[in-house]
Formats: sequence, structure tokens, C-alpha cells
Amino acid sequence: MNQQVSTSTLADTIARPETTIKVKEQPLLSVQNLSKLYAPGKGFSEVSFELYPGEVLGIVGESGSGKSTLLQAISGRLAPDEGEVLYLRGSADSQLQQVVSLYRMAESQRRQLLRTDWGVVHQHPLDGLRPRVSAGGNIGERLMAVGQRHYGSIREQALQWLQDVEIPVDRIDDMPVTFSGGMQQRLQIARNLVTHPKLIFMDEPTGGLDVSVQARLLDLLRRLVSELGLAVVIVTHDLAVARLLAHRLMVMKQSRVVETGLTDQVLDDPQHPYTQLLVSSVLQS
Ligand SMILES: Nc1ncnc2c1ncn2[C@@H]1O[C@H](COP(=O)(O)OP(=O)(O)OP(=O)(O)O)[C@@H](O)[C@H]1O
Ligand SMILES: [Mg+2]
Repeated sequence: MNQQVSTSTLADTIARPETTIKVKEQPLLSVQNLSKLYAPGKGFSEVSFELYPGEVLGIVGESGSGKSTLLQAISGRLAPDEGEVLYLRGSADSQLQQVVSLYRMAESQRRQLLRTDWGVVHQHPLDGLRPRVSAGGNIGERLMAVGQRHYGSIREQALQWLQDVEIPVDRIDDMPVTFSGGMQQRLQIARNLVTHPKLIFMDEPTGGLDVSVQARLLDLLRRLVSELGLAVVIVTHDLAVARLLAHRLMVMKQSRVVETGLTDQVLDDPQHPYTQLLVSSVLQS
């Protein structure tokens, strides 16, 4: 079988992801046999994977299969029932790297990682924004959290990022509650990328965006992945987005990973009946 998932307009705008992944010796994130069940079948079970710098892992699957719950657990925001999440802290250049276990460290240290090393783009944009702080303030706050203090420079970077995610710069002093859902989503992405994190977790980041804005945003993300070695875990319903951005895919159904592999492999030659159904339903739509 050699099916192609239609990427129509997006494919015209963006080139495909690099096929070579720069694999460094140690994974940035190592998820080992992780489970979190709120009730039988509600959550996720026995998930394991490794993520390297500059690598994009896509998570797709049916609604309610546990994708958001998994993202919460691997980003240090929801303690699992079982398993380990290991993170390689520190910079390769400084030679001061250390593998830390997310749920064995103090909560304050985990929070610190979320401020300095990671970004989280939430499925519902207002969950990831301060609704009553200005757009510029939402971005500036992240820069201050990593130690920047120069007001002029912070405002300059906020303006640049508003431009990058296509929010009119004259909205810099407006509150996110006055923005459309798509603008809130783009602001959330800007807030998370401004500090150039090493790892970003994204839950349906392109939901609610029109196709052309979505294409340019994906292009921006792909540049950050290749230029800065940004690692990404992205949950998406959109197989076209998964094909364009993800190097590897994990498919979830009923709290379990049913298939995993290189994106092209999974989408062009799906092995599990659920993945076959997912791919063929996109081809027919
Ligand atoms: N805080 C919670 N308490 C109890 N059950 C929860 C909680 N959060 C999620 N669930 C349940 O866990 C299951 C997985 O939810 P989750 O949000 O992870 O699914 P999902 O794959 O992200 O779905 P979608 O694609 O619709 O966003 C669902 O049955 C959901 O109702
Ligand atoms: Mg979800």
C-alpha cells in the first residue's frame, strides 16, 4: 500500500520535513512505561518513547484516547500512576548535563523547567495565557522569567514575535480576552517560543487557524526545529500537519499506543486497523 494523505494547500506552501534527524548520543526526554488512568480506559497506559534534540514526535488518535493526558504527564504537570519521565538537563556545550527524573524532583524544580527549558501550548488557548495581562505582557513575562530585565529589549522582542505569528502589532497592549480564538492561539505560541526553549509540548496548536496562517506557523516551527534544534511533541487531529511537521508518529486508541514509527511509514503503510481507518477516512474526506 502506498497511500498519500492529502496535504493540498499546505503541501504547496511548505516543503516536507528533513528526513535525516540529527541524533545526539543521549535522548532529551525518555518516557518509560508511563501510565495514568483516571478510571479504566480513561487516560493512557504503558507508554514508552525517546525524544532527541531537533526531533518532532506527533501524537494522533481518537478523541478521548488519552493524548492530552499523556502530554500533561510528560511535561511534568500531572503525576503518573506508574513509570518514569527522564529529562536531560543542561547544555551539551557546557558539558554540564544531568539526567533528572521529573517526578522525583521537587515540584519547584519542575516548575522552573517549565519556565526555562520548555514551552507548553495548550489545547484551549486561554489555559496557556494570562487573559487579563496585555499581549505584550504575556510574551514579556516569559522573557523576565529567564532573567531578562531590559524593558526596551523585551518590548522589541514582543513586537517581533507578534509579527512572526501574524498578530497586528498595534494590539500589543490589548488583553487576550479581546482576541479571537485563532489570535489567542498564535499569542500562546509566541509566548512559548520567545525564550527559544529546548522542548515544546503542543496540544492541537493549529486548531481554529485558517489554512494559510496555519501553513506559515508550521513553517516557522520547522525553522526553529532545524535552526535551534528545538524538540517538539505535538498532538494533532490533522494528519496533514503531522506529515509536514513530525519525524515520527505515535497512534493512540483507547488509552494505548497502537502503532508507532517514522511518519511516512505510518501514514503510507499503516499496520494497525485503527491507523488504516484513520488514514483512509482522510483520503475519503
Ligand atoms: N481530570 C480528569 N478527570 C477524570 N477523567 C479525565 C480527566 N481528564 C481527562 N479525563 C478522561 O480521560 C480520557 C482521556 O482524555 P484526554 O483529554 O486525554 O483525551 P484526548 O485524546 O486528548 O481527546 P481529544 O482528542 O478529544 O482532545 C477521557 O475519557 C477523559 O474524559
Ligand atoms: Mg485532547
